[in-house]
Amino acid sequence: MPLFGGRRVALLGTGIALPDRILTNDELSRMVDTSDAWIQERTGIRVRHIAEPGQLTSDLAAEAAERALSAAGIPAESIDMILVGTNSPDTLFPGVGPKVQGKIGAPKAGACDVQAGCTGSIYALSMAVTGIASGIWNHVLVIGAEVLSPLLDWEDRNTCVLFGDGAGAVILGPAPEGTRGFISADLRAEGEFHDLITLPAGMAQRPASLETVAGREHYVQMKGNDVFKFVNRKLPAFLKDFLEKSDLKASEVANWIFHQANLRIIDGVLRRLDVDPAKAYVDLDHLGNTSAASVFIALHEAVEEKVLGRGDLVVMTSFGAGMTYGAIAFEL
Ligand code: ACO
Repeated sequence: MPLFGGRRVALLGTGIALPDRILTNDELSRMVDTSDAWIQERTGIRVRHIAEPGQLTSDLAAEAAERALSAAGIPAESIDMILVGTNSPDTLFPGVGPKVQGKIGAPKAGACDVQAGCTGSIYALSMAVTGIASGIWNHVLVIGAEVLSPLLDWEDRNTCVLFGDGAGAVILGPAPEGTRGFISADLRAEGEFHDLITLPAGMAQRPASLETVAGREHYVQMKGNDVFKFVNRKLPAFLKDFLEKSDLKASEVANWIFHQANLRIIDGVLRRLDVDPAKAYVDLDHLGNTSAASVFIALHEAVEEKVLGRGDLVVMTSFGAGMTYGAIAFEL
């Protein structure tokens, strides 16, 4: 059963941080053999934000965290745990979580990263809800943050046109009386497909060498079309099963917050669920795929734009390297 037990847990505030620099499809078409028309037609992306040199995932994560804390009206001193979903940590260790804990001054908080491809933030969110529901934590800061741009091969049109940098943060705490809050979550992994999205070199399997540098193995590599087919095959049945086990109906969902990878994936999956694609909030047109940050940024923007309001039922779902995928349902 994917239902959360224990104390009810609510979302108390959200915040985001985006780098100032915007990279257009036209600029990309001067760097690799691509075009604005191809990128828009195949993905839905028009522009994306790209970090300045030296601007790190922990910088964007801390900025988003400060904004979420002030939106929630919770001081950093009250945070018990910080979980960061990321695939582009500043360094493998220390993680982004402890750096954020130091930057925002959260003296009693534990902190770590959750690395599960683009699904990392939904994994982290589910862990946060579980920790509060069970009573070991009261307030948890969950962040999805990426500065993937230094890890992209800017000569590879298959990947460099897809991604953008950014961070989204949410604050969770015990739900006020009468609030339903988080309802259910289901997290999956299919490791036999681990080679679909990789950053091959720089760790134990392929330590850095002249050969790995010459082979451009320190950049993200993706079998894009295989990922596309995997997601279209898996996600509709998974989401149907998730709703059923959560005792929810697709028609009750006010808005779907999908991982913002590709507009054709969002539309195709929802059509297979007999849901109007207009029920999905989309911001990939101006942000690209911000990997583990995308669902938290989309949630923040949907709330800011009043697409979502108090009491609305939300299903958030993502997929990514691993291959991992997952979904979480909650009432705002
Ligand atoms: N510009 C122009 N042509 C391109 C580009 C580009 N940027 N990229 C690829 N092409 C070409 C290919 O070389 C291929 O040419 P060919 O037919 O001569 O061989 C043709 O376009 C079609 O390529 P496909 O890969 O089959 O195109 P597809 O329709 O699958 O679109 C895309 C590619 C956009 C990557 C799509 O497969 C996709 O979105 N996949 C999912 C990726 C994803 O969601 N990743 C996120 C999960 S993981 C994470 O977020 C970290």
